[in-house]
Amino acid sequence: MKELTMTDLIALCKNRGFIFAGSEIYGGLSNSWDYGPLGVELKNNLKSAWWKRFVQQEPNNVGLDSAIIMNPKVWEASGHLSGFSDPLMDCKACKTRHRADKLIEEWIASEEQAGRKHRVGSVEAMSAEKMQDFIAKNKIVCPNCKKCDFTPIRQFNLMFKTFIGVTEDNTNTVYLRPETAGGIFVNFKNVQRATRSKMPLGICQIGKAFRNEITPGNFIFRTREFEQMEMEFFCHPSSSKEWHTYYRQACFDFLVSIGINKDDLRFRDHSKEELVFYSTATTDIEYKYPFGWGELWGIANRTDYDLTQHQKFSGEDLSYTDPFTNETYIPHVVEPSVGVDRMFLAVLCSSYRVEQIADDDERVVLGLSPKIAPIKCAILPLSKKLEENAFKLFQNLNNSFRCEYDTTGSIGKRYRRQDEIGTPFCITYDFDSETDHKVTVRNRDTMEQERVAIDDLVGYLHKKIYN
Ligand code: GAP
Repeated sequence: MKELTMTDLIALCKNRGFIFAGSEIYGGLSNSWDYGPLGVELKNNLKSAWWKRFVQQEPNNVGLDSAIIMNPKVWEASGHLSGFSDPLMDCKACKTRHRADKLIEEWIASEEQAGRKHRVGSVEAMSAEKMQDFIAKNKIVCPNCKKCDFTPIRQFNLMFKTFIGVTEDNTNTVYLRPETAGGIFVNFKNVQRATRSKMPLGICQIGKAFRNEITPGNFIFRTREFEQMEMEFFCHPSSSKEWHTYYRQACFDFLVSIGINKDDLRFRDHSKEELVFYSTATTDIEYKYPFGWGELWGIANRTDYDLTQHQKFSGEDLSYTDPFTNETYIPHVVEPSVGVDRMFLAVLCSSYRVEQIADDDERVVLGLSPKIAPIKCAILPLSKKLEENAFKLFQNLNNSFRCEYDTTGSIGKRYRRQDEIGTPFCITYDFDSETDHKVTVRNRDTMEQERVAIDDLVGYLHKKIYN
């Protein structure tokens, strides 16, 4: 089978209305993307599936929707103001700017490709000084001009700054949130009191996050504006290891349930050196994107770090007293955090296929799970004369499912168009339908056709889509 390239995928996304380049008519804005009519449907379906699984189906969990712009003290407490930065160096020869850690990682990868292994450990865990020494010692060159002549490393904070009110000075500087988690931590007490929850309690949120990434790229994999689906799961310190194990598997199973190929997923447990000082365990679920393995979902055991910090900086008591044992403690937190856009990309990569259906005929299929497909079924009248009743059927089915109505081109061409956008069912309304009140339902994957009574259609499709 033909290997999927990012170029194929980006072209399909643009041509079929999944994703467009941002601000395109003005020449674009690099690495910004707009989700089109099909993209927004698919994205909403992913978010609903996540919400259903992690809020609705988990008895300990509830939802939240907090503000994007928060009191800047939140980011002081969380460590983002002082430590959320990338190590940057400039090439003195050609004046291009680079992330030191990325230069090292790319060098290691190219060395490995050439059959040379280096025992480096985790690059993320290296100090700026260590990175600088490593680059000098191994004579790692600038990817642009191939010289090894860099400035010392400077830390570049990734948060987007803006100002509240009419004057622009330090006293009214605020930040666009770099993660949704901050809003959950500061609302822990509110949510716990309002819902009268006992521990464990999971608070879930979906929302935009902003990071001034130095090396955005790979389509929607790394962008400066993206969406996260995060959960902060507050629990007794003695149970956090167990909950980490539980969510590690639950997140993996969720990805498989929305149609991501199991063989293209793997767990990557962080080594001791890689773990941040307060975390006792972090696992990334990685996906094999066309450009290589990359992080999709992070599941971290963050201990009591966040609540302790917010308690210290806000002066509010964020401890919890167990009503049965009277034990008072700061809950520990397990945090599964995933990007909607990365999940979207993994789902598209996993479902895209080109099938040879005859010697001189092939079709592009997005084999999306029916549950998340943007369009569930397309209604295709076989003749103009049938449009009145076919359109009525479309309007009726649209009350239950997101449907499309297509009258243009041959039936074969219409099938292909729907295959390419992942529509699991095509419904042909023909002359017999006028008298026998049945339609032909064609299955995207098997291409088999079945005659179904119009009165039974909603139940039939519901079963096929959601079971
Ligand atoms: N609160 C924890 C946190 O934000 P993270 O590993 O920085 O952790 C979590 O981000 C997830 O958000 C990642 O696993 C990834 O799916 C997504 N993500 C992070 N940065 C991103 C970016 N620049 N573009 C798109 N998605 C991103």
